[in-house]
Amino acid sequence: MPRPQTDRFQPAGKRKSRPKTDYRTRQPAHEYELEVLPGLEHVAATELATVPLARDIRGLRFWFPGDPERLTRLRSALAAYRIRAWDVPRPRGLLGNQQLGELTDFLRQVIAVGGHTSFRLGAAGKESSVMQRLAEELENALEIPFRPEDGQLLIRLRPEQDGPGWEVLARTTPKPLSARPWRECNMHGGLNATLAYATHKLAGQRDVDRIFNPMCGSGTLLIERDLLGPCDALVGVDIEQSAVDCAKTNIAAAGRNIEVARIDALQTGLSARSFDLIVADLPWGDAVGTHGGNAALYPAFLQEMHRLLSRQGRLAVITHEIRLFEGLLEGSTQWNARELLQVASGGHNPKVYLLNRR
Ligand SMILES: C[S@@+](CC[C@H](N)C(=O)[O-])C[C@H]1O[C@@H](n2cnc3c(N)ncnc32)[C@H](O)[C@@H]1O
Repeated sequence: MPRPQTDRFQPAGKRKSRPKTDYRTRQPAHEYELEVLPGLEHVAATELATVPLARDIRGLRFWFPGDPERLTRLRSALAAYRIRAWDVPRPRGLLGNQQLGELTDFLRQVIAVGGHTSFRLGAAGKESSVMQRLAEELENALEIPFRPEDGQLLIRLRPEQDGPGWEVLARTTPKPLSARPWRECNMHGGLNATLAYATHKLAGQRDVDRIFNPMCGSGTLLIERDLLGPCDALVGVDIEQSAVDCAKTNIAAAGRNIEVARIDALQTGLSARSFDLIVADLPWGDAVGTHGGNAALYPAFLQEMHRLLSRQGRLAVITHEIRLFEGLLEGSTQWNARELLQVASGGHNPKVYLLNRR
């Protein structure tokens, strides 16, 4: 049997003078969970707290009676999954007639909203005969093909967290939320957009900021900032023409108007104290740049950004060259620095720092 879907949002029976409630609170709620880059949990929890009608929030798990489309607008999450639990001791129990019917209904509801055209399974032992049978049954029932490598509807199975059964998580969108619709140009070493969003939220968002993004690459930090709201100026540069072209493609796809140019960030010719916020995703020394090159680039970068930053300005830096960067900050007479976060992203563990002029 599936766990009864506790609908905690039905208003009590009709009263004479019932206060006005949002009609969505009378719709059945579903349970969801957000997936995030490890390290971004607190940023996602803060964003989730702003979603109207999200209730009974436990970490990144919550009940929501509203339009699931609202969840696709979350910018710190890799994905949102709808969850349902079944009282079965093993996944094999999901192959029973009743359970399979309920599972199919549950997945059909997710497909009706997301428009997925194929599916895949994500579970320990997904090569097992039980999982293969489950895939066959679902292929027949859902009438979309099973594509083990790149199916759009990712169905995850795992033991129930607070009970004896198993729960099924279905990704609500065909692509991860981190694959932004504006990303038409992908650059090797491009930043995960959820990390770009988190960096801006933690570095602080002010309408009066004049913002510089040296080494902008494909424009991730620029676009994510522009989508957050107004600022006084937003400018990006990169030394590679291909990166500038890539950023321009993505900016146009996002429908934004952001200035980017092919300029060496260390030789911009701009006057001192031109910016209130500088946000930089520096070369990490593997996909982009070399460790040897970074040993010269990083100190020169810190020196020039100190010149370009206003007295009360902030410098946010994302890097995987942790030893090099922290070595430069140690005993620095120019900068006060603190670590904002460290994430696991694409096999790397970059850190984000916030620096102020001493
Ligand atoms: C880690 S990548 C940035 C990726 C970017 N955040 C994105 O999402 O695509 C670093 C970028 O720094 C650029 N770069 C390296 N040295 C530079 C310099 N002196 N001035 C400007 N850009 C530079 C590289 O061309 C590369 O595009």
